[in-house]
Amino acid sequence: MTTVKFVHLTDTHMNAPGKDGLLAKFQLADKVAQVFRYIEETKIAPAFVLITGDLTHEGDAEDYAYIRQVLDEGSRLIGAPVHVVLGNHDHRGPFREGYLGEQPSEEPYYYSHTIDGLRLIGLNSQVPGDHNGTVDETQMAWLKQELSTAAPNGTVVALHHPMLGIGGMLGDHILTNRREIGEALAGTDVVGVFAGHVHSDNVGSYLGVVNVAAAGTAFIGKADAEENFRMIDACSFNVVSVTPGEGVSVQTLSLPTSGTEYFRFPMKALAAQH
Ligand SMILES: [Fe+2]
Ligand SMILES: [Fe+2]
Repeated sequence: MTTVKFVHLTDTHMNAPGKDGLLAKFQLADKVAQVFRYIEETKIAPAFVLITGDLTHEGDAEDYAYIRQVLDEGSRLIGAPVHVVLGNHDHRGPFREGYLGEQPSEEPYYYSHTIDGLRLIGLNSQVPGDHNGTVDETQMAWLKQELSTAAPNGTVVALHHPMLGIGGMLGDHILTNRREIGEALAGTDVVGVFAGHVHSDNVGSYLGVVNVAAAGTAFIGKADAEENFRMIDACSFNVVSVTPGEGVSVQTLSLPTSGTEYFRFPMKALAAQH
């Protein structure tokens, strides 16, 4: 059996240079470019790169055009496609305009691509104007139809909001209709669900399917003893290896950073800030 590898980044929170905003001054797109250089230098040779949302931090079409440029350059460097899903800090209209070069509609962005026999299903759990995540009825019907046939090397599902709870984090970070999605995935060829949003590694299973929330590529979040959520300079990503008929392994890698604190917020305010 051939193992299919992909690299999972999440929560890149990028903005175009020179923009105003909470995180824009940190030039977080530079970290993503650095990850692509690392992938190339270390010859990981992934079949694709996946970014599970919060591509930008409240960006406009200009930010998305810049992100597209950064990711296209990365894609060329490593010789593999990049696929993305939207997070709660993303906006559908500007994404469609700046990243996809389409009309700025509010249509959800979801898809299925099969790469080296591994099917990648990207779902839109982002809900306009809300930090909570939900996969809408139209996508649920499409997902069930899509999963009614198996892919040659199995399927991975990508979305921003995780299905697993995480110690110390608020319950409303979890996908609101996770039970419905979990039941749709159980018993199919799905070997794993890959998410972000919590800026922290969190791995487990839900209704028998492996679920992975990756730590942030822009920053990680840590809770302290005073009930603060600290956003720490970090650069983390996962290399995921899928071996058809066997299973999946996830290796977390981190590139060196200053480790300094960008911001801290009371946990109560976290819902609006992650
Ligand atoms: Fe995020
Ligand atoms: Fe998020």
